[in-house]
Amino acid sequence: MSSLPAQLAREFERRYSRSARLFRAPGRVNLIGEHTDYNGGFVFPAAIDRATYVAVAPREDRRLRAASLSLPETLDVPLGHRQPAGNWTDFITGVAALLQLEVGADLLIATDVPIGGGLSSSAALTVSTAFALGGGTLPRTEIARLCQRAENEFTGMQCGIMDPFASCLGEDGCALRIDCRDLSYKAVPLPGEVRLVIANTMVKHELAASAYNERRAACESAAARLGVPFLRDVDYSSLTGRELLCARHVMTENSRVIAFADALLAGDMTKAGTAMYASHESLKTDYEVSCQELDTMVEIASKLPGVHGARMTGGGFGGCTINLVAADHAPEIVEQLTAGYRAATGIPPHIFITRPSAGASEIPA
Ligand code: GLA
Repeated sequence: MSSLPAQLAREFERRYSRSARLFRAPGRVNLIGEHTDYNGGFVFPAAIDRATYVAVAPREDRRLRAASLSLPETLDVPLGHRQPAGNWTDFITGVAALLQLEVGADLLIATDVPIGGGLSSSAALTVSTAFALGGGTLPRTEIARLCQRAENEFTGMQCGIMDPFASCLGEDGCALRIDCRDLSYKAVPLPGEVRLVIANTMVKHELAASAYNERRAACESAAARLGVPFLRDVDYSSLTGRELLCARHVMTENSRVIAFADALLAGDMTKAGTAMYASHESLKTDYEVSCQELDTMVEIASKLPGVHGARMTGGGFGGCTINLVAADHAPEIVEQLTAGYRAATGIPPHIFITRPSAGASEIPA
């Protein structure tokens, strides 16, 4: 067992004088298909090799208690509690309420997913909690839907299904091409000659959650005006202003996901990379969810030998970029990108190679 879950298990025993079961759920990185999930479109995420771990043991007194090794707030509430506290414990409250928990529990949580860094630390937390609280017996797509609802209803973030879906259903070595209209998906293996490099800009602009919800509302009002359930397969020429830009991004991004997945299967990395750069440009100019630091990271990457493609990943306004790079160049790309971004912005970034990994699971004792 790698060291973080082992440390978590030991700490649980020390605090609660009994042993625990351990569960893990990974963060995710989206290769392409951004802001399309809540529009019934295509996305292409991979679960990553960083995860949130939950140690859990039942309690006899119908109370739910949770603590984290990395965050100070704690939860200590009766079952059935539904009142958000305005901090990370709201994810636990939400998942427990939606699972209609009947048995109390102690939870202790640790993570190596950067918190709030755009790699879906929230979905890693809700999904690992859902597995730990017994939801692991439900079909995985149902767990993903429940976790999305927990985040929507208990934290106010109107996120789509992509992140909990990837955290639940990720497959080792693969990215998932998901159709968010019906949740059908195909696991596409990442070719051996490429690597995924994640570059965290280390900035998160304050407006992220409100701007995300605004974009979603604009898409929904455009769809309503056009009389369709989702902004997909529509003629957007009658729209204007923000609605037109949003609809154009969603439509073109959907085609790029298909082109990217086909290029990956055909081993055409140049074509895959072209789709990634075009995705970034569309998110920057049409959807307006990029920021200077993300643009700088993509621009520096685009000039490095061995980089096939780069783009912002996740909701935007900071967080990370994803880079598709030649395997034999990956270590020096990490170094050069780190040095280049630091020189351009004065901010030391966090850049690392990741490997697509399997979705949530129990860790055997
Ligand atoms: C966030 C949300 C996802 C998705 C992305 C943008 O990560 O949680 O549902 O909408 O932004 O693609």
